[in-house]
Amino acid sequence: MCSIDLKGQRKKQSVSHLLCGRVRSQTLINNHLTTQHTTINLKMNTELFSQVDKYISGLLAPEDKALIDTIKSLDNEGLPQHSVSPNQGKFLQVMMIACNAKKVLELGTLGGYSTIWLARALPEDGKVITIEVDKHHGEVAQKNIHNAGLSQKVDLRVGKALDILPKIFAENGEPFDLIFIDADKPPYKEYFDYALQLSRPGTLIICDNVIREGKVLDTNSIDEKVQGVQRLNKMLSESKKVTATILHSVGVKEYDGMAIAVVNRINM
Ligand code: SAH
Ligand code: DHB
Ligand code: MG
Repeated sequence: MCSIDLKGQRKKQSVSHLLCGRVRSQTLINNHLTTQHTTINLKMNTELFSQVDKYISGLLAPEDKALIDTIKSLDNEGLPQHSVSPNQGKFLQVMMIACNAKKVLELGTLGGYSTIWLARALPEDGKVITIEVDKHHGEVAQKNIHNAGLSQKVDLRVGKALDILPKIFAENGEPFDLIFIDADKPPYKEYFDYALQLSRPGTLIICDNVIREGKVLDTNSIDEKVQGVQRLNKMLSESKKVTATILHSVGVKEYDGMAIAVVNRINM
């Protein structure tokens, strides 16, 4: 919501949602983010960051045919290019190995790109459950996962995460070792609450896109995605159940960040 109790310049931007949105995007096109207190120059050396990202992935996260074909399938099938980057896929694998992950949950499959990185870091008897609301995305993902030879390790469930999570809870299985939250952003806090219920002490919970090009700084943002991740980030700062940080990153994707939380063994 666009609040009306703003001071100075911001008041003008609050005439209507439409105007507010237009002024804000204009602000971002000019590479400035205006918050209640400051205007921040967002000009960044995106070309350098992208080249360095490719340098790192060339060394440490090269894509094979299955991953390259998965990215191609997004354009061919009209899906958005919202997959994690190769280096972020590798980061998820490093986290998987570090916590000896055998049982993994993912919210938001898209074309299965991150799912493939996750599933490849599983032991022989490991499993990823991945949840996707869009039937077409689910079909594209299933094909990509099959082409990567990972069908046995991936359990793709099509439906709304908020409908499927209580079902997984009711199945009363072993807790998950790692949970990757990457579905729609407004209910991120609710997803995190479910993730906690499906966890044990030591479980890693990783949430993508919690910085959103720095828009999280705007405490008056009317963007529901921004509001969703702001709510999650605040909850992480207050929770005694987890120890959390946020790694922000530049590279081939837009400037953004991942929250990394570990479920505490004792309340902190
Ligand atoms: N993890 C993927 C990218 C996910 S993009 C990767 O890195 O490869 C976000 C996905 O979440 C989209 O496919 C979108 O359809 C899905 N999504 C959106 N709302 C959802 C919901 N309520 N429940 C489950 N999935 C949802
Ligand atoms: C969006 C979603 C993602 O998961 C992502 O990594 C990048 C962008 C989006 O909905 O805008
Ligand atoms: Mg994402």
